[in-house]
Amino acid sequence: MVRTFLILFVVAVGAVISMAGFRGEKFTGTPLQITPDMKHQPKVITQHASRFFQDGRADHPPVKGTIPVGYSLPGRYYQSGVNNLEASSSFTSEPTYRDTGLMGEVYGDGVPTEVSAKLLERGRERYEIFCSVCHDKSGNGNGVAKAFGLVTVASLMDDRIKGQPDGQIFATITHGKNTMGAYGSNIAVEDRWAIVAYLRVLQKSESLKVEQLSPEQKAQLEKK
Ligand code: HEC
Repeated sequence: MVRTFLILFVVAVGAVISMAGFRGEKFTGTPLQITPDMKHQPKVITQHASRFFQDGRADHPPVKGTIPVGYSLPGRYYQSGVNNLEASSSFTSEPTYRDTGLMGEVYGDGVPTEVSAKLLERGRERYEIFCSVCHDKSGNGNGVAKAFGLVTVASLMDDRIKGQPDGQIFATITHGKNTMGAYGSNIAVEDRWAIVAYLRVLQKSESLKVEQLSPEQKAQLEKK
C-alpha cells in the first residue's frame, strides 16, 4: 500500500515538474515537433534570406515600371496640367493632399478634382457598393449590417460629420475609424474622392426643401 502510494507520488511529482517546472525558460535546441502542421512552407518570408533568388534575398524592389493597382501613370497630371479623373495622378514620390486628405498636419477641405456629374455618378455607385451596407443608401446609418449586430454605425447625416472637412472624410475611408474598418486598399484614391463628393451631395439633399429647387429640377424629379 505504502509502496504503491510512494510510486504514484514520485510519478505525480515528476509529471508536475516536467510540465510546469520549465515554464518561462528559453530552449536553444530545435524543439521536437510531433505534428509540424504548416510551420515549414516553401514561401517567402519578409526580411528573411531566400535561396530562391540568386542574390539570396527574399525581398526585392518592384520591377522597373510597376504601377500600383488603382493608380494612373505618374506625371500625367503634372505634364498636362489637366486635373480630371483620367489625367490626374496620385503616384508621386511625395504624399499630397490628394493621397492623404492632409494639408501639413491638418485636414484640408475641398475635392482635389473637378466635381462633374460623371464624378458624382461614380461616387454614388462606389458609395452604394462600399458604404451602404452599413451607412444605408440614405446615409442614415441604418444599413443592413445594423440588423446583424453592428450597432455602432454612425449616421453620416450628423451635423458633426457634415462639419468635418472633406480631407477628414477621405482619411476615414482610407484608414477607418474606431469600429469602422479601413477601405484604402479596396477603393482607389480617385474613387475615394468621388465618394466624398457624392456624400456631400447626399448630406445637402437631406435638408433641401422641394421649394428650393429650380423649375427644371422639379420637372426632373417628377419624371422619376
Ligand atoms: C462594415 C460597416 C461599415 C462600412 C462598410 C463603412 N462604414 Fe463608415 N462607419 C462604420 C461604423 C461602425 C462607424 C462608427 C465608428 C465609430 O466611431 O465607432 C463609421 C463611421 C463613419 C464616419 C464617421 C467617422 C467619424 O469621424 O466619426 C464616416 C465619415 C464614415 N463612416 C464614412 C464611410 C464611408 C464613406 C464608407 C464607404 C467607403 C463607409 N463609411 C463604410 C461602419 C462602416
